[in-house]
Amino acid sequence: MIKLSERLLLMAACVAPGETLADIGTDHGLLPIFLYENKVCPKMILCDIAAGPLEKAKQNIAAYAPSFTPELRQGDGLSALQPAEVDTVVIAGMGGELIADILAFDLAKTKSYRKFILQPRTAPEKLRKFLYRNDFTIQEEHLASERGRICEVIVAVPSQKANATMEEKEARLTALDKTLAWEISPLLIKKKDPYLERFLNKKIDKELAIIKHIEENGRDVGYLKAERTKKRIKTLRLILHKITKDSRKD
Ligand SMILES: C[S@@+](CC[C@H](N)C(=O)[O-])C[C@H]1O[C@@H](n2cnc3c(N)ncnc32)[C@H](O)[C@@H]1O
Repeated sequence: MIKLSERLLLMAACVAPGETLADIGTDHGLLPIFLYENKVCPKMILCDIAAGPLEKAKQNIAAYAPSFTPELRQGDGLSALQPAEVDTVVIAGMGGELIADILAFDLAKTKSYRKFILQPRTAPEKLRKFLYRNDFTIQEEHLASERGRICEVIVAVPSQKANATMEEKEARLTALDKTLAWEISPLLIKKKDPYLERFLNKKIDKELAIIKHIEENGRDVGYLKAERTKKRIKTLRLILHKITKDSRKD
């Protein structure tokens, strides 16, 4: 049996038995191999923009699951798939902006798939904003630890109907910016994700390092950035306070 990292295991747990699946940017192909070994998906398509990763996936299949014979397709984003060809699309281990670009490229086609399991390495707030603007509903959010990093996993489903007018959406986007809700998902707070405290502390440490850097390198130059960073630290500490207070109540 193949051993997956906690991040990949978490994504595997987001796939319901019986779902057909495409793994976009499959690289090593470890997630589909695990799903095959555990008989979760009746059909899987492994896609990557480059030939090298698909070769790596082939080698891993030969080593771990030689009876697994999925389709391997080279292509950019969802272009390797036909509309509605699978139920679930996984796009993991890429930047949040790249994931949003892949989803945005042909929105009608994107919305032909029922479910997305997304794992942005960077800029998750940009991806969440894209999903909101384009009427996807985020159903689940989870955190996992991998090599000292806390990784975010987002499960989203598309809707054909607009959730709100463009003006209402833009107003909400701006309002929630102030509370960092696009960055720290309210779903993670609500479900009391076990990694949330560590996730917030890491973010606070990063912001404190920015302040230290500005102070050491001339406060005047970085005045605005320092003020913005201090505001962020305050908001992050308030969220941290809320979740630690709530967990003491439990
Ligand atoms: C860091 S790996 C992630 C591998 C795996 N999905 C994971 O999460 O462990 C990113 C992979 O995405 C592929 N990739 C990058 N841009 C892509 C695109 N536009 N379409 C399809 N694959 C892409 C890269 O070639 C690479 O193999």
